Amino acid sequence: MVEFALPKNSKIKKGKVWPKPDGAKTVKAFKVYRWDPDSGENPRLDTYHLDLDDCGPMVLDALIKIKDEVDATLTFRRSCREGVCGSCAMNIDGTNTLACTKYLSDMKGDVKVYPLPHQPVVKDLVPDLTQAYAQYTAIEPWLKAETPAPERERPQSPEERARLDGLWECILCFSCSTSCPSYWWNGDRYLGPAVLLQAYRWIVDSRDEAAGERLDELEDPFRLYRCHTIMNCTRTCPKNLNPGKAIAELKKLMLERRG
Ligand code: SF4
Ligand code: FES
Repeated sequence: MVEFALPKNSKIKKGKVWPKPDGAKTVKAFKVYRWDPDSGENPRLDTYHLDLDDCGPMVLDALIKIKDEVDATLTFRRSCREGVCGSCAMNIDGTNTLACTKYLSDMKGDVKVYPLPHQPVVKDLVPDLTQAYAQYTAIEPWLKAETPAPERERPQSPEERARLDGLWECILCFSCSTSCPSYWWNGDRYLGPAVLLQAYRWIVDSRDEAAGERLDELEDPFRLYRCHTIMNCTRTCPKNLNPGKAIAELKKLMLERRG
C-alpha cells in the first residue's frame, strides 16, 4: 500500500540547542541534521551557534569548527576542502552542493544542513552511496580499446580532446543524481545524471572503441530513458557542469544509430 506520510521513526525531531559563544559579535546559527543508527532514536535537528569572526569562510569550515570545538559527535565526510574530491556534498539551505566551496557570506539567516536527499543515511550528514557507486562501476568507466596501444600514448587532436570538456571535470559528488526526482523514485533502475554524464564521457572519447557496446547497455526503458528533462541536475551541479545536456546527447546518439 502506498504510504503518504513518513514512518514515525523517521520524523525529524527538535534537537539540542547549543549555547552561543561568549562575547561573539557576529553569531550565525547552524541547524544540522543528526541521526545515529545505534541510538534507536529518531533523527533530530541540532542548533549550533558560531562566531563568524572566528571561523573560516566556508560552510565546511563551520562544520569542522563545530566538530573540533563544540560537538565531536557530529559526523560528515570531507577530504580535499577545495572542490576536487566530491566527498563533502550535502544539502545546504535546500540545495545540493559542496560544503567546502559554499561561502558563509552568501547565506542569509540560519544555515540548514542535511545529508544528500533520498539516499540511506549512514550517520548524520553521511549518505550511503553504495548504489550510486555500483551504477558507476556498471558503466565500466575505463578506456576500452582493441587496437594495441602505441609505444608512447594514444594521441588525440585538440578537437577530440575538447569534446571531453565539461565532462572530465565531474568529481562524482552525486549532488545532481540526488536532486533528481526520477532518480529518487527509480534509482534502482535509472542510472541518474552523474553516471550518465560519465557514460557519455567515455562514449565521446576518441580513444575509446566501445561506444556501440556502451550505447547497447543504455538501451533500456529505465537506465537512460527515465530522464524526463527536469534539469534539477544542471541547476544544482556545484562544478557548473551540464549533466542534462550530456543525457540529451546520449538520447541523440541513440536516435542516430537507429538511423
Ligand atoms: S555532474 Fe556535477 S553534480 Fe553531478 S556528480 Fe558531477 S560534479 Fe557532481
Ligand atoms: S572536501 Fe573535497 S570536494 Fe569538498
